[in-house]
Amino acid sequence: MLWLQALLFGLVPFCASKPLLPRWDDFQVKHAWVEMPRGWELHGPAPADYRFNLRIGLKQARIEELIAALYEVSDPAHDRYGQHLSKDEVDVLVAPHSDSADLVESWLTAHDIDTNAYHRSGGGDWLTVEVSVSEAERMLGTQYNVYRHSGSDDYVVRALNYSLPSILHEHVAVVAPTTYFGTIKSMKKTSFLQPHIPTIESDTDIASLLINPGSLATVPSSCSTTITPSCLRALYNTTSYTPTATAVNKLGICGYLEEFANFADLQTFFERFRTDAVGSNFTVVLVNGGENSQSEPGVEANLDIQYADGMSFPTPNIYFSTGGSPPFIPDDNTPTNTNEPYLDFLNFILAQSDVPQTFTTSYGDDEQTVPLDYATSVCNMFAQLGARGVSIMFSSGDDGVGAGDCLSNDGTNTQRFQPNFPASCPFVTTVGATFRVPEEGISFSGGGFSNYFAQPSYQSTAVSAFLTKLGTTNAGLFNVSGRAYPDVSAQGEGFQVVIGGRVESVAGTSASSPTFAGVVALLNDFRLANGNAPLGFLNPLLYSTGAAGLNDITSGSNPGCDTNGFSAGTGWDPITGLGTPDFGKLQALIG
Ligand SMILES: *[C@@H]1O[C@H](CO)[C@@H](O)[C@H](O)[C@H]1NC(C)=O
Ligand SMILES: *[C@@H]1O[C@H](CO)[C@@H](O)[C@H](O)[C@H]1NC(C)=O
Ligand SMILES: *[C@@H]1O[C@H](CO)[C@@H](O)[C@H](O)[C@H]1NC(C)=O
Ligand SMILES: *[C@@H]1O[C@H](CO)[C@@H](O)[C@H](O)[C@H]1NC(C)=O
Repeated sequence: MLWLQALLFGLVPFCASKPLLPRWDDFQVKHAWVEMPRGWELHGPAPADYRFNLRIGLKQARIEELIAALYEVSDPAHDRYGQHLSKDEVDVLVAPHSDSADLVESWLTAHDIDTNAYHRSGGGDWLTVEVSVSEAERMLGTQYNVYRHSGSDDYVVRALNYSLPSILHEHVAVVAPTTYFGTIKSMKKTSFLQPHIPTIESDTDIASLLINPGSLATVPSSCSTTITPSCLRALYNTTSYTPTATAVNKLGICGYLEEFANFADLQTFFERFRTDAVGSNFTVVLVNGGENSQSEPGVEANLDIQYADGMSFPTPNIYFSTGGSPPFIPDDNTPTNTNEPYLDFLNFILAQSDVPQTFTTSYGDDEQTVPLDYATSVCNMFAQLGARGVSIMFSSGDDGVGAGDCLSNDGTNTQRFQPNFPASCPFVTTVGATFRVPEEGISFSGGGFSNYFAQPSYQSTAVSAFLTKLGTTNAGLFNVSGRAYPDVSAQGEGFQVVIGGRVESVAGTSASSPTFAGVVALLNDFRLANGNAPLGFLNPLLYSTGAAGLNDITSGSNPGCDTNGFSAGTGWDPITGLGTPDFGKLQALIG
């Protein structure tokens, strides 16, 4: 009797938890849009034999440990500060549980996908398999279509929803490309030309005025309308610093949208605006079919490289040109990959053992247009870079609290402020924009509160103080418990950029991010030159001891969504963050 009971009680749960043949056809929805993503229209079904790379992100078994480690090594008050993880240590923490790996493999095998034909990331958390549309449709219980973007006339192959066998839900974080429509051309480029702002052809006059760098009195009044590296170096107090750790320190600039940084334009820029840098160069790394056409200089790419280099010279700068593919041609039977720009770039960079200590990226999407599962996976990849000692800057967006009518896409059409992603990821440092001297927040500066990511503790004191002062203003239009941004800011208007040999005036938080990243690269140079670890993930430092090294910007507002937006004030605010950098003061603080 006793034996029988033991047998029964032991066997029943065993049978229930280990079915011999998992069912691969009891689909449960993984992500579904309730409406067609705005700006897109159905063009027709995707050709059944169209082949593309499907990325399967497995649940990372110890991701909470990775994030805890990230916070410890980034917190200047913690014993582990600066003790960044190696690539191998990160790979261990992002590895999937072996059950997840086994189950996903049996699922792929059940679909006749050759286990030798797929690529596995270092941690084993990403599998990339080449599949046809019909195979992907069977695996994901979905239908892929060709969708056309009416504004840009681009075509992509995507799905409005996708499913997974129910047994896989606790093992798979995301599958892409599926429902993320934001693609290479439709990603909002956060920079715009300013034809109405006069340009200056040379700033030797300005340079000669900079006798006493770092003193606001010596920043020439022309810097209120036209920004050059001399203005920024004076304003942010970097003029007297000479980098020396140039054999190890590097600054990475991320480029997408087939935006190419031009070598000749950089030389012209240096001849006019940073003569000591003439003859120095940047290198280009092509990622996933990225190109480097020198006949098509890009406004964004030239802005990014000229100001990143203009601020950080002689630190080596690397331009990462991430492709994806040429636009999909609906009738072509031999198309290549589909575009998943961040995943392509992040999978590439995380596979390298030696990565730049500082990155700047000036691209983004409305957060609500990025599926939550995709955004979470990408944001966790920034955490991995941070844990490895990388500082990551993103521009905050150029639409204040949101562009247009700001209606939600959840089927309710509610008016809500529209945060940007990846600006809203808590593991990046988001840079807003200022203008004029003395500095004020500029109206387009993107800022707000995430609806996806909770407010990280490093910013809770700073953000609570702002919310208390705000009272009921804008109540209901934003998420008080969300990750708040920007973290910091820098000038964002009247930047003198050489494009195709001509000087143009450019504005946008696209200008602010490379500027701030240039200052961070100098700080990393100082750390490395003294035998210290690089700064890594900056936010825990910036919101604590680092705040004293920032110039608090206390005026300006960022209207949008038919409201006045938020207003800048003393302390952190969602227009200028904690403020703009004072290199000299930060250098003293990070000793
Ligand atoms: C998924 O999208 C298809 C159109 O491609 C639609 O017919 C179906 O109702 C959608 N399912 C869900 C759960 O949203
Ligand atoms: C910069 O590098 C590119 C690519 O190697 C080269 O074509 C160009 O001539 C270089 N410019 C200078 C000034 O060295
Ligand atoms: C507000 O943000 C939290 C994350 O902090 C999220 O869970 C919640 O869904 C958000 N609310 C809305 C209405 O988006
Ligand atoms: C600039 O840096 C120096 C140290 O290099 C510091 O003494 C000074 O306070 C900083 N700020 C200004 C505005 O001068």
